[in-house]
Order: sequence, then C-alpha cells, then structure tokens
Amino acid sequence: MAKIIAFYNNKGGVAKTTTATNVAGVLSLQKKKVLLIDGDPQGHTSLTFGVDSDDLQTTLGAYLSSNWTASEASQYFIKINDFLDVIPSNQSLSDFIILTSSEDPKIRNKHLKNFIESVKNDYDYIIFDMAPAVDIILENIVEIVDDLVVVATPETYAVKNAETTLKITDDKQVTVRHIVPTKTQMNTKTHKFMLENLQEVADSHHINMTKTYIPNLIAFSEAVSIYELPLALVNDKRYLKAQEYYQNLVEELGY
Ligand SMILES: Nc1ncnc2c1ncn2[C@@H]1O[C@H](COP(=O)(O)OP(=O)(O)O)[C@@H](O)[C@H]1O
Ligand SMILES: [Mg+2]
Repeated sequence: MAKIIAFYNNKGGVAKTTTATNVAGVLSLQKKKVLLIDGDPQGHTSLTFGVDSDDLQTTLGAYLSSNWTASEASQYFIKINDFLDVIPSNQSLSDFIILTSSEDPKIRNKHLKNFIESVKNDYDYIIFDMAPAVDIILENIVEIVDDLVVVATPETYAVKNAETTLKITDDKQVTVRHIVPTKTQMNTKTHKFMLENLQEVADSHHINMTKTYIPNLIAFSEAVSIYELPLALVNDKRYLKAQEYYQNLVEELGY
C-alpha cells in the first residue's frame, strides 16, 4: 500500500517542485515504485522531466473532470524509468477546481481519494507536488495524505508563510512532522538568523525542522535546464556531492 506524501507551502518559489521531484528521483533509484503527481496547474513537475504539459490531454485535471480512475489513466502516465511514473497537470486542473467549487464538500473533497484508490497497491509512494494555494486540491490531499512536508526558505516572507501554512494544517487537523529548509546560504548572517526563526515556528507547532538543509546551489536548476531531469537522476560525477542532500533528506524523513 503506497505511502502518500505531499510537499507544501502556500508560498511559491520555495522549492516544493525541486524537493518533490528530487525525493521521487532518489526513491526510484532505491527501486521504490513511485507515482509523482503534479498538484499545481503551472505544470512544473513534468517540465522538470522535459515534458511541457500545456497542450496535453492526459493530465490530472482531465482525469478528474472525466471521473477516470488512476488505473484507467495509467497507460498515459509519463514513464521516467522502471520505478517512476509522472502524472502531469496544466490549466485543466484550475478548470476542474472552478467546476467543482459548488459541489457539496463531502463529494468535492474526495475526488483525489477516489482517483488514486485503484493504484495504491501498485506503488510504494505516491508523491504530490502541491500548488502554493489553499484550494480544493489541498482539501483533497488532507483526506488522503500520510505525510505532509512543509518546505520553506530561510527568508522573511517564506518564514511568515511557513507559520500561515502550519495554521492552515492545524485547522485542517493534518499531522505535519517536518519543515525542510531549502535554498539555504549558511555563510550569510541573514539565513542563519532566519533559520532560527524557522526553528521557532517549528517548535511552536511541535514539529521538527530537518537537520538536512538543502543549500542554494545552481546545480538544481542546471540539471533541469541542461539534462531535463531532477538533479537526483542526472548521471554526471560532477553532481555526486550535490546529490547527497536529497539522499540525506529521504533518509531523515524515514522513507
Ligand atoms: N536548492 C536550490 N538551490 C538553488 N536554486 C533552487 C534550489 N531549489 C530550487 N531552486 C530554484 O528555485 C526556483 C523555485 O523552485 P521550485 O522548486 O520551482 O519552487 P516551488 O515549487 O515552491 O515554486 C526554481 O528556479 C528552482 O530551480
Ligand atoms: Mg512548484
């Protein structure tokens, strides 16, 4: 039975997609079967693997709108390697969100649950890369997630949003175990100071800030731009050191 993980913050640009795609990459290299689902209409999850989802018909929004199950859709999943499948998203996910907004919450919040049910036994992990939004997709995730991980950068706006995010998850009674600091520059006073603030936010909500910080490295965007892959899956000796951060994170999160 797959463990369901979501990487979330209601702020953009904090490395949710980078974290979701790299964690999925690391797990696939460990021969764990992973289904990585783009929960953001911006479509960055598949773009990380070189697939522009703009004109695709085979996306999460289309499946949910047509009441398909994941097993019916599985023939169209993007197969990255033997262990990693991706479901892309695009604007049709926003259309779905608008379309379902007037439904009774009991029905509206169960679409993802119904969708993934049929493939839960086919995967070890189902990973959601979330949008920076408080929307129906978040409500749907709340119904099914085993581990919601908050991703945050050590700067004022993101720390503020980490606090807001944890208030949202508290309200919705989702258990969050970890905040992951990303894009850290520990040689700066500002990031050291803001990490202390982030730790306080974590403490006040009784959750852990991971000991693994993901440093600010150009390698993460270079991998996507040049290799059309998350760094974890690039086969280039130059990246071995940088690849260790997400390997360590996966270990620390206990996956
Ligand atoms: N550790 C990192 N070091 C440097 N740049 C990063 C790192 N992680 C992510 N980025 C870059 O920051 C930007 C935002 O990351 P992204 O994963 O798209 O965030 P989100 O999904 O939260 O909006 C992207 O350009 C990405 O390449
Ligand atoms: Mg993103």
